[in-house]
Amino acid sequence: MTRALTKAVIPAAGLGTRFLPATKAMPKEMLPVVDKPAIQYVVEEAVNAGLHDVLMITGRNKTALENHFDRMYELEQTLEEKGDREKLAKVEYSTELADMHYVRQGDPLGLGHAVLRAKMHVGHEPFAVLLGDDIIDARDPLLTRMVEVHERRDTTVVALLEVPESQTHLYGIATVEPTEDDDVVRITGLVEKPPQGEAPSNLAIIGRYVLKPGVFDVLERTQPGKGGEIQLTDALLEMANDPTSGGVHGVVFRGRRYDTGDRLDYIKAIVQLAVERDDLGAELRPWLREFASSLD
Ligand code: G1P
Repeated sequence: MTRALTKAVIPAAGLGTRFLPATKAMPKEMLPVVDKPAIQYVVEEAVNAGLHDVLMITGRNKTALENHFDRMYELEQTLEEKGDREKLAKVEYSTELADMHYVRQGDPLGLGHAVLRAKMHVGHEPFAVLLGDDIIDARDPLLTRMVEVHERRDTTVVALLEVPESQTHLYGIATVEPTEDDDVVRITGLVEKPPQGEAPSNLAIIGRYVLKPGVFDVLERTQPGKGGEIQLTDALLEMANDPTSGGVHGVVFRGRRYDTGDRLDYIKAIVQLAVERDDLGAELRPWLREFASSLD
C-alpha cells in the first residue's frame, strides 16, 4: 500500500528577473493573471487534487506571498461594514484555501536544492511538487491523474508535454517506453535542458511531479549539474535507473496549460483565461476580434 498524498511543495524562491521592474519589490508569483495572483491558481490546483497541506519554499522579498494566504483584518472589516459579501468572500477564500507552511531556501542552488528544503516538513510520505510558472486548466485535472498513477504503480511520476523542437533546450527532456496505459510512459532517460538539436525526444517535463520520499536521499548526494545548480532532473534520472526506487513514470498531458514564465506567454495566458471568464469573456471576445483585425 502506498500512503495517501496530502502534501504539496511549491518552490517560489526565484528572483523573477524576466519581469523586472515589476518584480523589483514584489514576488513574481504575485503577478495577477486576470485578477488572481499566479500562485493562487497553483495552490487551488493542489487543493483540487486533495493536497491541502502546502509548503512554499520562499526567499527574501516574498512576504507578500505569505500575506496573500493570511487574514487581512482591516480589509475584511471594511468590506464587512460596506456589506460587500462578494468581495469579502474572495478575500476570505485565499485565506482558507489550504493549510499553508513556509520555509526559506537560503542560497539559490537550484530546483533540487529547493525541493530538499522540504525534507523536514514532508518526512517519509510521498508528495507533489508544483512549479509556479505553469497554470494547468482546472478542467483538465493533470495532478489528480498523476496521483492516481503514483498510487497504482507505487512510482515517481512527472508530467510530460510534447513541445516543438525549438523549445526542447528550455526543459528537462525524457526518453520513454510505452506502457499499457495510453497516457502513461516509463522513463528510461532524462536530460536537463539539452543544447538545441541534441534533445533525445520532444517530451518535456512540465512543472508537476509526484515524488516518493526516497528522492531526498538521492538529492542529498546529487552534485551540481546544468548551470552549476542541483537539478531535480538529475536525481530523477538516478531513480529511473534504479528499479528498487520504484522507477519513474510520465503522464503525457494533452490538456490546457498556460505558461506564465516569460512576458509573452504571460500575456497570452491572461488573454486565454479572460476570454473564458463569465464576467469578462462576452465583452472581451468581440473587442479582441476587432482589435486583431485592426492589426493588419
Ligand atoms: C525546471 C526543471 C526542468 C523543467 C522545467 C519545467 O526548469 O529544471 O527540468 O522542464 O522546470 O518548467 P526551470 O524552468 O525552473 O528552469
